[in-house]
Parts: sequence; structure tokens; C-alpha cells
Amino acid sequence: MPKILATGGAGFIGSHVVLELLNSGYEVVVFDNLSNSSVKSIERVGRMSNGAPVFIEGDIRDGAALDALFEAHDIAAVIHLAGLKAVGESVSHPERYYDVNVAGSTCLFNAMLRHGVKHGVFSSSATVYGEPAPETMPMDEHVPTGPVNPYGKTKLMVEQILTDITSVGPGWRSLVLRYFNPVGAHTSGQIGEDPLGFPDNLFPFIAQVATGRRKILNIFGDDYDTPDGTAIRDYIHVMDLARGHVKAIDYLLGSKAVDNETPVVNLGTGHGASVKDVHAAWEAACGFKIAAQVAPRRAGDVTIYCADATKAKEMLGWEAEFDLAKMCEDHWRWQAANPEGYR
Ligand code: NAD
Ligand code: UFG
Repeated sequence: MPKILATGGAGFIGSHVVLELLNSGYEVVVFDNLSNSSVKSIERVGRMSNGAPVFIEGDIRDGAALDALFEAHDIAAVIHLAGLKAVGESVSHPERYYDVNVAGSTCLFNAMLRHGVKHGVFSSSATVYGEPAPETMPMDEHVPTGPVNPYGKTKLMVEQILTDITSVGPGWRSLVLRYFNPVGAHTSGQIGEDPLGFPDNLFPFIAQVATGRRKILNIFGDDYDTPDGTAIRDYIHVMDLARGHVKAIDYLLGSKAVDNETPVVNLGTGHGASVKDVHAAWEAACGFKIAAQVAPRRAGDVTIYCADATKAKEMLGWEAEFDLAKMCEDHWRWQAANPEGYR
């Protein structure tokens, strides 16, 4: 079976993608500098799957390390997940984001060009849409982009770089996947999200309140123009997302993909859930109350973000299967079994 390179494959989303690729029969090489992950995720994936992935510790900004990888392995396609992803840090340290996300991606694409590796899937984010008006919800891929922070800008830049390289590279085909809000964990509870330090995002924060590591959930704003006043997002189970990557690779390596094109595809469920919906679903999953209080709005948050995922269904034959209850149950199973993550 074809061999797939997953950059950032030891991370939250990457570890689930690698597992799903292995279980679909692909061989996988993981390249990750472990700056935001643990090699334990890859060891566990190896135990859970049909065949262990090859793990290479390295940095996407290191062209020589990438040359050695591509010389040692006949890679059919790259899934490029490696990068930095904290919105707040990208505002205070934009240079890190331009270096790792933009310069790192360019270094990777140059190595692919040197070694004749012509198929790439890029992990982008719905954040590239910026602050679209609530009337545009659910958003399809035609909604104009307009990222409002350096993280989102780097994601859009890499989309554009990959699109331009693909448009002229003989035999090149790529896909940009724009994820909405990935949450949950593999249903075994063996792998999951393991944020270093203070968790910025809703699911990991609630998970830490549920284990007693944090005292109380702050609900950022209950005066939004939504049915219960709290902001709405399109949460997507990480295993649905992982399956979407397998479909993306099947598509790129199959007969339907068109040379020199880089389609952009939203990966979301198409259904929104409010912060209060999420809080209630977590209490149901845990079977106990989770302390919460209303706090002021968080700067930069929009009222509603929701995907129109029709294109993913039509082009890739993919749609999300798991609902909010399953996302909370699986996330909780992982957190309860691993209260300190991989540490
Ligand atoms: P993560 O931090 O868990 O995974 C990223 C991985 O990349 C980590 O294992 C990290 O060690 C590795 N990495 C970072 N810099 C590297 C470098 N210079 N060289 C090699 N490896 C490096 O994050 P995640 O949530 O799994 O996100 C994966 C991708 O999906 C990222 O590109 C992120 O921007 C994108 N994304 C994530 C979300 C989300 O909410 N989690 C939403 C949309 C898009
Ligand atoms: N929220 C709270 N309390 C918290 C944390 C979050 O009320 O402690 C609220 C937020 O205000 C927001 C919602 O929960 O209304 C979701 O917040 P997250 O931080 O989990 O997710 P965001 O939608 O803000 O952003 C995430 C990623 C971005 C990515 C975006 C779209 O952090 O990188 O999804 O994919 F771009």
C-alpha cells in the first residue's frame, strides 16, 4: 500500500489521522519535532493498529532532515499537520508563526519538489474565514477569507503557497482541508488531546474542570444573539476528521483528482452547538455536575461559526457521523483515564 508522510503526526489530530490511515491499510511515516506532543501517542497508535508507523523526530524547517526522509522512504503523499496553533500566542509572538507555519511549510514543499513527491493535503482552519456575518452561516468554501490574527493569516498564506506550487508542478495534486472545531478522542480512551499548560479551548478546559484540575468553567458571554445567548460552534469528532483525511488521500491517489488543482474543502458537521449545549452534554457524559459561571465575552470571539460541508460529501464521499454526545463521552473517557495526558 502507498506510504503516507504525516508531518505533526504525533499531535492531537495527527495521532488520530495516523491510526485511521494504518487501519485503512496505508503505511505511515510520522515526522514531528515533539514541540507540542509526546512520542507516547505514536507508541500507543502502534499498539492499536494493524502496523506501527515509522517515527522520525525532526523539524519541518530542517531541509536536510526532510531530504534524508524522502531518500529513505518512497512517499506517495504528504499530510501536512505540523505547525503552531495557539491564536493568542500568534498575536504576542507572530514571528514564531511565520517561521514555523510559513517558512516551515515552504521548506517542506521545497523538499517535496526536490524528491518528486507531488501529492499534499494541508491542515487548514475555518479561522481563515475571519469574522463573517451570521447571515453567511452555514459557511461554504466560497465565503471570502479574511483572517483576523497572525495564526489565521499563516494558514491562509500556506493555502496560497501550496495552491501556487501545485498549479505549475507537473503531476501535482493537493487538497486544503479547513477544519472547524475538532474535539473528542479515539473511543478507546488511549489517545486524545493533551494541551501543554493552560487550555485555551472549550473542550479541554471542561475536561480539566471535570477531573478537578480546574475549579470552574467560565462561559465567555451569554449576551450573544443566539437562542441561549452563548456562542455557537461546529464541533467535529476527531475520528470523523481522521476519516476525512483518509478520504482525502484516497481522492488524491485515485482517478478523480485533477492535476494542478488544489480544491478547498470544509470539514465540519454542519450543526452548531452553543457553549451551554456543550456544558450540558458534558454533564450528561460525566454523570455529574460541572461547575460553570458566566464571564465577560472573550476578545475576538464571533457569535456563530458553522460549516456547510456539502462539498466534502460530494467530492470526497465524506460526512461526519458522530454527534455532540459521542464527542463528550469519548473526550471524557480519554481525560478520565489520562488525567495528566501523556505525562
Ligand atoms: P498539535 O499541536 O497537537 O499538533 C501539531 C504537531 O506538530 C505537534 O505534534 C507538534 O509537536 C508538531 N510540530 C510543531 N512544530 C513543528 C515543527 N517545526 N516541525 C515538526 N513538527 C512540528 O495540534 P493539532 O490540534 O493536532 O493540529 C494539527 C494541525 O491542524 C495544525 O496545523 C493546526 O493548525 C490545524 N488545525 C487545528 C485545529 C484545532 O482546533 N485543533 C483547528 C483547525 C486546524
Ligand atoms: N469558551 C468558553 N470558555 C472557555 C473556552 C471557550 O466559553 O473556557 C467558548 C468560546 O468563547 C467560544 C467557544 O467556547 O465561544 C469555543 O471556543 P474554543 O476556544 O474552543 O474554539 P474557537 O472557536 O474559539 O477556536 C477554535 C480554535 C481555532 C480555530 C477555530 C476554528 O482554537 O484555532 O476553532 O476552527 F481556528
